Amino acid sequence: MKLQQKGLLKPYISKSKISRRVKKLASKISRDYRSKNKNGVPIFIGVLNGSFIFISDLVRELIIDVEIDFLKLSSYGDSKISSGDVKMLKELNCTIEGRDIIVVEDIVDSGLSLKYIKDLILMHNPASLEFAALLYKKGLSNLDFDVKYIGFKIPNKFVVGYGLDYAQKYRNLKEICILKN
Ligand code: IMP
Ligand code: MG
Repeated sequence: MKLQQKGLLKPYISKSKISRRVKKLASKISRDYRSKNKNGVPIFIGVLNGSFIFISDLVRELIIDVEIDFLKLSSYGDSKISSGDVKMLKELNCTIEGRDIIVVEDIVDSGLSLKYIKDLILMHNPASLEFAALLYKKGLSNLDFDVKYIGFKIPNKFVVGYGLDYAQKYRNLKEICILKN
């Protein structure tokens, strides 16, 4: 890959490692929700844009029926550091009340986005609410609630690929890379 040759990107989590982990998460979620069907099928809510590849791989590995919706937030602009100001750019189309909800994020960094989403969804009285994140930055997030399904805990590095961007670039890389300064 050209950019890797330029030394800008350092391969960090390979395509096959991601795929094995996504399958594991999917089988855990399938087990956890198999018997939880009195509220209808669970609704997976992908947080755009970063989770689009993760959620599509994850839901295709499930052995349960689900519904899928998306919401879109913005807090980063083109910076590598969160502005702390979360904005809603696309709202949900589904009815949350009385349903089992699983929010799917690409990465938890400061945790501000998840907190915002949690408060938003709880206002609409779901039957249950859990979070799945492909990546979780250790030591940074000061969440006061659990992310039940985590792909990989990673150090505080800026990563791209498999849906994650820097200034809207690199989302289409098959693997996760560290973006060097
Ligand atoms: P938080 O609100 O600080 O937890 O940040 C959440 C969002 O910021 C994630 O959903 C990502 O879209 C973006 N983000 C955080 N860290 C990174 C990174 O290392 N690479 C790319 N995007 C990131
Ligand atoms: Mg995101």
